[in-house]
Amino acid sequence: MTNHILSIDQGTTSSRAILFDREGAVTGLAQEEFAQHFPDSGWVEHNVDDIWGSVKRTVRQALINTNIGAEQVAAIGITNQRETTIVWDRKTGVPIHNAIVWQDRRTHEYCRELTEAGYGDMIQRKTGLLIDPYFSATKLRWLLENVEGARARAEKGELAFGTVDSYLIWKLTSGERHVTDATNASRTCLFNIVEQCWDTELLELFGIPENMLPSVLDSSDDFGTTDPQLFGAAMPIRGVAGDQQAALVGQACFTPGMSKSTYGTGCFMIMNTGENMELSKNRLLTTVGYRLNGKPTFAMEGSIFVAGATVQWLRDGLKLFSDASETEPLARAAKAEHGVYMVPAFTGLGAPHWDPQARGAILGLTRGTGITDIVAAGLQSVCYQTRDLQECMLRDVTINCANLRVDGGMVSNNWVMQFLSDMLGVKVDRPRVLETTALGVAYLAGLHIGWYESLEQISELWHCERTFSPQMDEEQRERLYAGWLEAVERVKSDGA
Ligand code: G3P
Repeated sequence: MTNHILSIDQGTTSSRAILFDREGAVTGLAQEEFAQHFPDSGWVEHNVDDIWGSVKRTVRQALINTNIGAEQVAAIGITNQRETTIVWDRKTGVPIHNAIVWQDRRTHEYCRELTEAGYGDMIQRKTGLLIDPYFSATKLRWLLENVEGARARAEKGELAFGTVDSYLIWKLTSGERHVTDATNASRTCLFNIVEQCWDTELLELFGIPENMLPSVLDSSDDFGTTDPQLFGAAMPIRGVAGDQQAALVGQACFTPGMSKSTYGTGCFMIMNTGENMELSKNRLLTTVGYRLNGKPTFAMEGSIFVAGATVQWLRDGLKLFSDASETEPLARAAKAEHGVYMVPAFTGLGAPHWDPQARGAILGLTRGTGITDIVAAGLQSVCYQTRDLQECMLRDVTINCANLRVDGGMVSNNWVMQFLSDMLGVKVDRPRVLETTALGVAYLAGLHIGWYESLEQISELWHCERTFSPQMDEEQRERLYAGWLEAVERVKSDGA
């Protein structure tokens, strides 16, 4: 009996393999962290073999933990850290360089030149994105310019480019398939989301030979079959989506106005905006939420680079506590009006500021400030940043917004969720299954193999565990938020 769908969730700091049953319940799981490389200031790389090795091992381990063989897996879904850029040799499969990670800022000078040359409007109109080192195009260009011989090899058709999903599919199918899905393609800054194809003008602008690019499929599609040698039996790959879009699906945000916010390393708030592509006037991103039967559903996205990473820094950098679970009692013990603001701009500021050179700060310290206040300020920074995104979204869209659905490691902290609801002035829903990213891509694979007939059927599987309702009065909410806005202004670089 093939009663399981296997999701591979290849994230920024770890790879996970999770098995689900038809009701969307987790039946088995394995996880492995891998090394982060910081070869220069603002640079972030991953060793591609670490990515592949950790995926292979976690898939094997998850099957063992669930006590099943690969032949009992009905389908695989793949979800991944987006934008991260890999180039490999088509013959040997050997990567020409480490993966350049989405957080990497090495191309910020080039991005500034593009902005000054006035390419911003054209890029946003075609891709829904803004000019920023975040997206794959400038990273890919950097590889072609800086790895010896790369451009010549690319022009001869010897090299392949892919985001992590694409590279994993290539490895899982032993080089049979070079494909990606529309959500991942929409984060490269080379994909025209209006026409739903690679864009010749953009390829020319960034100097990218078209033959390097994968074919773009729906998010629920036939992505090939794993080489039986790898896991003992062939498994069909039938769902692929970037991790934030996968979470949108896992949270069943299928109607316009529904939104989710995921609190992992960063925080990504995405609102379903339906079939019509709307461009942000407030520096948010327009992206493909999912594409089914050739039809894209669009979404508006706000991306914050540092959310859960703030807690990691308070733990590992400042050593204020030894386990993230301690942050809730610490924050509860903080003074209600502690006056401290922490702006965690460790790798610059994402939406809506897009300032790659801003750096973090803790402001408002007095002799009375204690560890509890600093921890509270760190946690609150995540909520204030979500409010920044919410403000922009409300200005950008005309649709009615529903409750915010949340997921990711930080949402188990009830104090943070209450403050989030207070700061946003909306209800915040925490679902029963928090593995929404992996679940979303399991649903996409399940749609293709007929486990689910419709998105409506998937919606019925979503259950709320707890709703947080706003309790703070308007005056306090606005006063606290005004303090945050002032703090952010103080960390911005002159260039922003
Ligand atoms: O855009 C970057 C995002 O996909 C990374 O997500 O969960 O790996 O931090 P995560």
